[in-house]
Amino acid sequence: MADGQRPPDRTLEALLKEDRRFDPPGDFRRLAHVTDPAVHAQAEEDFLGFWASFATELDWIREWDRVLEWEPPHARWFVGGRINICANCLDRHVRGPRRNKVAIVWEGEPGERRTLTYWDLFQDVCRFASVLKSLGVRKGDRVAMYMPLIPELAIAMLACARIGAVHNVVFGGFSAESLRDRISDSGAKLLVTADGGYRRGSIIPLKRIADEAVEACPSIQSVVLVKRADLPVDMRRGRDHWWHHLMEQATPECEAEAMDAEDMLFLLYTSGTTGKPKGIVHTTAGYLVGVYATTKWVFDLRDEDVYWCTADIGWVTGHSYVVYGPLANGATVVMYEGAPDWPRRDRFWEIAERTGTTVFYTAPTAIRAFMKWGTEHPARHDLSRLRLLGTVGEPINPEAWVWYYKHIGGERCPVVDTWWQTETGQIMITPLPGITSLRPGSASRPFPGIRAEIFDDEGRAVKVGGGYLVLSRPWPAMLRNIYGDPERYVKQYWSRFSGVYFTGDGARVDEEGNFWLLGRVDDVLNVAGHRIGTMEVESALVDHPAVAEAAVVGIEHEIKGTAIAAFVTLKEKSAQPGDEAGPPSAAGQALAEQLKEHVTKKIGALARPEVIILTADLPKTRSGKIMRRLLRDIASGKALGDTTTLADPAVIETLKQKYEEAG
Ligand code: WTA
Repeated sequence: MADGQRPPDRTLEALLKEDRRFDPPGDFRRLAHVTDPAVHAQAEEDFLGFWASFATELDWIREWDRVLEWEPPHARWFVGGRINICANCLDRHVRGPRRNKVAIVWEGEPGERRTLTYWDLFQDVCRFASVLKSLGVRKGDRVAMYMPLIPELAIAMLACARIGAVHNVVFGGFSAESLRDRISDSGAKLLVTADGGYRRGSIIPLKRIADEAVEACPSIQSVVLVKRADLPVDMRRGRDHWWHHLMEQATPECEAEAMDAEDMLFLLYTSGTTGKPKGIVHTTAGYLVGVYATTKWVFDLRDEDVYWCTADIGWVTGHSYVVYGPLANGATVVMYEGAPDWPRRDRFWEIAERTGTTVFYTAPTAIRAFMKWGTEHPARHDLSRLRLLGTVGEPINPEAWVWYYKHIGGERCPVVDTWWQTETGQIMITPLPGITSLRPGSASRPFPGIRAEIFDDEGRAVKVGGGYLVLSRPWPAMLRNIYGDPERYVKQYWSRFSGVYFTGDGARVDEEGNFWLLGRVDDVLNVAGHRIGTMEVESALVDHPAVAEAAVVGIEHEIKGTAIAAFVTLKEKSAQPGDEAGPPSAAGQALAEQLKEHVTKKIGALARPEVIILTADLPKTRSGKIMRRLLRDIASGKALGDTTTLADPAVIETLKQKYEEAG
C-alpha cells in the first residue's frame, strides 16, 4: 500500500527510526486554551455535546433542534438552526471591543500595504453584498472568483456568504480551460476577477485568461473586475464592471441573510482519480463550527495574536484558515500576495518581523525550499514574537520539521503538523500545542471528537500498524456532496469500506496512537502540496495531436515532495522521436518541451511535468492495462517489482534505459 508518492526520507524505515520528541514549553503549556489531556476522553464520551459547546460560542439567528442527523453517508449538522457565517465573522466583532481591531494586514508583492479593521472590512463586505444584489445575484446563485491574493477576494467571499450566494474560488494559477470547466460545472452567474496579479515580479493577466474562459460560459451574466495591476483590459459593455465604480455607489446597508444550517456555503473543485475535478460541497453551520473550533484550539488563538497562514485563498486551506476560521475567532490575519523569494529570499521573514507574526502556518514544500536557501535568510530577522508554527498539505519529513522548529521557531515554538483535506473542511489529525508531545513527521492524534482509524484491505481496523486511513464518524465541516454528482460522492468516498469515509491516504498508527501519514494510495499526486489527478495530466497530454497514449506517475522531488513524470507514446509510430534508441534527439527534446507547455496551457503551471519520456511502448498487462507500478519503479530507480504479468517484458528494458538517459 501507499506506494510511490513520498517526499524525501519518508520511508517507513526512516519513520520507524524517528524517536525524537518535543514537549510543549512550560509557558505554552500553562497559558494554552487546552491544557488538560482529558479533552480527548471527554469528547469521546459525548462527541455531539463537544461540538455543540463550540456552537454555543457563536451567534445564531435560530438555535438548532438537533446537533446531528446521520443517515450514512449523508449528514446534517445543527438541524433546524439558522445562522449567517459572515455575521459571525464580522457583525459579531464590530458590536464589541474588536470593532477597531485590525482584521487584515495585507502586503502586495510590489510592496504596497493595506490595513483593514473589522469595521472597515464589515463596511466593504456590506457594500459588495449590495453590489452583488444589484447585479441580480440571489440566495443560492453561484459566484465564481479568479483573483490574486488581495483583500477583495476575502471581501467577495464574505459578501456572498452574507446574502447566501455560493462562492466558487478558482486558484489564480489555473488555466483558462480549467477556469471554464469549473464555471460551467457550477453554472456561475457572476465572475469576480482582476486585471492582473503579481507573481515573482511578473503580472499574471487574469482578466485576459478569464475572458477566454467566459467566452464559452453562457451562465455568466456579469464580470466584476478589481483594478490591481494597471493592465490594459477589454471591457465588454453590459457585462463587465469595475469593482471600484460599483463600490462607490453601493450602500453599506445590507442585512445578513438567515441561512439554514445546511444551506450551501461554497463549492471548491479538487482533483480526484478521474479526469474531471470534483465540486466539493460545503454547507453553513457545521463548516463554521468545525473551522472555528479547530482554529481556536490548534492555533491556540488569543486576541493579541498576529496570525499568518501563507496558503493561497484559492485552496481549501485559504478558505478555512485564512478567511473563515481566523475571522470567526476575531483574529488579526496577515495576507501576502506574492512569492516567498521575491525580490529576496527573506521576504516572508521580513513580513513576519514587521507585522509581529506570532502564529505561522505554511506547507512542507515551502519549508524544504527555505532549508535549501539557507539559514541566513531567517537569521537576518527578529522572529522572536513567533510562538507557534504549523504545517499542512503533505507529509513533512522529519528533517524539514526539525529545521523549521530550530531555525524559524528558535526551538521555542511547538510545530503543529495538521492533516486534513478539501473534503474534510477542517483540520482532522493534529497536535494540540499545549498538551501534545510532538514527534517530527507525525500529525499526532485525531482532534477531539474525530474518529480516524487504519483499515486493512478487508476493512478490519488495525490497532497498531499501517493501512488505509478512514474516518469512521461524521464531523461538522465534512463535505455534503459532489456538486451535481451524488452518485460519485457515494462511490468515491463511502464505498471502499461501507459506512466509513475513505480518505485516499495511507497511514500508520503507532503504539501511542500517533498517526504517521504516508501519502496517497490512489491516482492522485500531491505536487508541492497541490492535489493533481494523474488522469487530468494524462488527458491533457493525449489532447496534444502528436500523442497516442500517456501514463503519469509521481517521482520524488527535493522541494516539491512529489513531481510529475510522464511516459508518452506518439501517434504514427514510424520515424517519431520516441522510437530511436540512445539519448533523446533534439527533435525529441523539443517535443517534450512542447508537451510540458501543452499541459501548462490545459491545466496550469502547477501540473507541468518535470520529466517527459517519449517511448515506443508502455508496459502493459496482457489485458492491455498500463502497469503504473512498474513505471513508478523505473522512475524512482527502484528494483522492479513483479513483472510476470507483463505482456512484453522487453518494453521495460528499453524504458529503463530511456529514463536514465533522460536524466
Ligand atoms: C495531503 C489540503 C500528510 C493528504 C488541506 C491529503 C497531508 C491531501 C497533510 C489533501 C499532512 C494534507 N500530512 N499529508 N499534514 N495535510 N495532506 O485537499 O494526502 O489540497 O489527502 O487539502 O493532502 O489535499 P487538499
